[in-house]
Amino acid sequence: MPETPQAAIVPQRRHGASIGQPLTRRDGLLKVTGQARYAADNHPPGMLHAVLAVSSIARGRVTFLDVAAVTPENRPPLAQDPDAKLDPLMFRLDVLQNDRVRYAGQPIAVVIAETLEAATGAAALMSPRYEAEPPRVGLDGGDSFIPPAIGVGTPPEMRRGDVEAGLAAAEHQIEAIYETPAQYHNAMEPHAIVAAWDGERLSLDMPSQGLAWGQARIAGLFGIPPENILIRSPFLGGGFGSKGMVSGPQVLGILAARLVGRPVKLVLRREQMYGPVSHRGPTRQTLRLGADRQGALTAIHHHVRTATSSFDDFFEPSVQVSHTLYASPAIATTAEAVRLETGTPGFMRAPGEASGSIALESAIDEMAQAIGMDPLEFRLKNYAEVEPISGKPFSSKALRECYAQGAARFGWAGRPVAPRQMRDESGLLVGWGLGTATFPAIMFQGQARAVLRRDGTGLVELGAQDMGQGAWTALAQIAADSLGLELEQLEFRAGSSDLPDAGIAGGSSHTATAGMAIHGAGAEVIAKLAELAMGDEASPLFAAGNAGVLARGGRLYRRDDETRSESYADILSRAGLAEIEGRGSAGGDPFAEKPYAMYAHGAVFAEVKVDPELGQIRTMRLVGAFAAGTIINPQLVRSQYYGGMIWGVSFALHERAVLDPRSGRVMNPNLAEYHVPVNADVPSLEAILVEEHDPHVNALGIKGVGEIGITGSAGAVANAVWHATGVRVRRFPIRIEDLLIPATH
Ligand code: MOS
Repeated sequence: MPETPQAAIVPQRRHGASIGQPLTRRDGLLKVTGQARYAADNHPPGMLHAVLAVSSIARGRVTFLDVAAVTPENRPPLAQDPDAKLDPLMFRLDVLQNDRVRYAGQPIAVVIAETLEAATGAAALMSPRYEAEPPRVGLDGGDSFIPPAIGVGTPPEMRRGDVEAGLAAAEHQIEAIYETPAQYHNAMEPHAIVAAWDGERLSLDMPSQGLAWGQARIAGLFGIPPENILIRSPFLGGGFGSKGMVSGPQVLGILAARLVGRPVKLVLRREQMYGPVSHRGPTRQTLRLGADRQGALTAIHHHVRTATSSFDDFFEPSVQVSHTLYASPAIATTAEAVRLETGTPGFMRAPGEASGSIALESAIDEMAQAIGMDPLEFRLKNYAEVEPISGKPFSSKALRECYAQGAARFGWAGRPVAPRQMRDESGLLVGWGLGTATFPAIMFQGQARAVLRRDGTGLVELGAQDMGQGAWTALAQIAADSLGLELEQLEFRAGSSDLPDAGIAGGSSHTATAGMAIHGAGAEVIAKLAELAMGDEASPLFAAGNAGVLARGGRLYRRDDETRSESYADILSRAGLAEIEGRGSAGGDPFAEKPYAMYAHGAVFAEVKVDPELGQIRTMRLVGAFAAGTIINPQLVRSQYYGGMIWGVSFALHERAVLDPRSGRVMNPNLAEYHVPVNADVPSLEAILVEEHDPHVNALGIKGVGEIGITGSAGAVANAVWHATGVRVRRFPIRIEDLLIPATH
C-alpha cells in the first residue's frame, strides 16, 4: 500500500486525559496473533454442524426435497410470525415458514450432521424440485409505486419552494440520470451462529451490531423472556450494516439446535451472503438542477427509483443528501420503487448518503462545468448556511474549513477547468475531482454502568459492539476520563447482551451513544464520591461546596484550591465502602425532530490516472478533510476515514452485483467476481481532522465518523475520471468499456 501520511499534529498525552490520544487499538495484538475469538471459533461440547440448502430459483414453490432435513414440515414452531413487522426497524425473515420461494438463495432446508463435511455434502444432495414462476429482476422489472417512507421514516416526497419555477427561471439547467447497482456488504466474517439451548435458556455466539435488538427479536420469535438469552459478540469481522438485525439464517441455527437438543453451529458460505442477509438496493436517480448567471442554484430536484423485495419494505433513501448539502430556494425530493425477487435490501455503508451523494456530487460537477466554474468555487457559492430543506441552523458545520484545508493539502489551486488537460510523464491522462461528504450525527438510546473500587481501580461495562472500528479502545478512553483514572486502572467490559444496553453500532452513532452513557455513569460515581468527601470533616475536600471538585488520576481536587485533594481509595476507606456504583444513560429517538440540523461534513479531493488507449483507471491519491466534532482517538478516526474513502473508490470503480435476468440469481456471488478494492487498488490516503466544537449534539461534542468517508469519496473519484477523460459516466461503477471511444463510426 502506498504511503499513508499521518497528520502532523499528534496530541501530547496529558496526565489524566485519555480522550484525544492517538492510542493503538487495545484488541490489536489479539487480532494479529489469531487469539480474538469470533462467533464461528466456538465449539461447545456435543456441537453439531448445520448447513443451509438454498433455492436456485427466484420465485415459486419448493415441491420436493430428497433428504431428511429441517424443512417447513418439521421445523419447530415459532411464537411469532417471522413475516410480522411490529416496528419499522424489524425485518421480515425467511426461516422455512412455508414452501414459497421469494428470491434466489433463500434457505429452503437446513441439514444437521456430526461434521461440517457431512452436512455440506447432504445439503448438495437434496435434489429440490420447484414450481417456478418468472422472476421480476432489475429496476424495470416491476410496476412502480410510491413507498410509504424511505430509509427510516423519511417522507417519499419533500418540497421547499417551487422547483419548476426555479428551473424555468434558471440560466443554466441540467437533467441527468445516474444509476447505482445492487451492492452486497461482504464483511470478511460471514454471518454465523453457535446456538445452545438449556431448557428455556439460550446462549448464542453470533456477530451482532445490536445486542439488545437481537435479544429482543429472538425473544419475540421464540416466546421466551429476553433475559433468558445471552448473546456474546466480542468481535465482529465487519458488519457494514448487515449485522444490525438478526438474520434469517441465524434464526435457523437456533431452530436447528432446538430440534436436535444439542448445540449447533451454522456459518454462511460466501455465496450464501448474497440473499438472506441484506444488501444495498439498486437506484436510478434523476437530478434536475437550475442555476442563475452568477452560479447560484435556483432549483434542485432529486428523484430516486429503487427496488425492494416482494415481501418487505426498505427503500434506499438516496435523495436525503439533497435536503442538506446545497443552498437552493427550491428543493424537491421524490421517490418510487419496484418490488423484485430479491432478498430485502437494508442498511449498508451510509445507506442513502452513499448512493445519493455520488449522483448529487456528479450533477453538481456537471452544473459547474455548464457554468464554466471551478467545482470548488461553485460549491462555496452554494454553501448552505442553514439546512436548506428545513431552514434549521446547523448545530455546527466546519465544511468551509474542510474545503480550504483539503484543497490546500491536495494542491487544488491551478486545476484546469476543462477536462482532458493534464497528462503525466508517461502519457496517462490525469484528472482531479472533488466531492462533498456529509452524514447525520445521531444517537440511539444507551446505558452504561461504572464502578469505582477501594483499591483505586474502576470498571465500566455496557453492551457495546466492536465491529472493527475500535470501540474497545475509544470507549475505554471515554470511560477512563469519566472516572478520572488512567486507562491501565480501568477494567472495560463490553460485547455481551447481559451488560447494560448500549444501543447499536450503526448509523455512525455508537461512540456518541455509548460514550455519553459511559460519561453519565462515570459522572454519577464521581458525584457520589464528591458528596462523601465534601460531607466529611476529615477530608481536605470538606465543604468544597459551590466551588466543586475535579476528578483526575484517581484523586479528587478542590476546584478553588488544587493543592487540596484526596485519593479515591482514602475517601472510600473512610466511608467504609468497598466500591461505589453509577449508572448513565444517553440518547433518545434518533429519528425524532430536533431543533438543530446535526451532521458531520467533509471534502474529498481525488486524483485519478486513466490510460487513454486502454481505459484503465487508477485512483492515485485521495485527500479527505473531515469535521466531525470531538475526536476521541485521532489514530482510530483516521482509520475510519481511510476505510470509508476506500469504500468510496469501491463504489465509484468496483462494486456491482450482476443479476441474471432469467433466473434472478446473482451471478458473481464471490470475492473473485464481486470486486472490492485490494491493496493494489488503494491510493495514497490522507485524512485531515478538521477542528470542530459542537455544543449541541451531546455534552462531549461527538459526531459519528464511521460512514461519512464513503460519501464524498465516491463522487470525487467519479468527477476525477470525468476531468481526466472528458467522458461523463453516469452508471456506476465506472468501467473500462465506458471510457473506450470506438475508433470507427
Ligand atoms: Mo451502518 S449501514 O449504520 O451499520
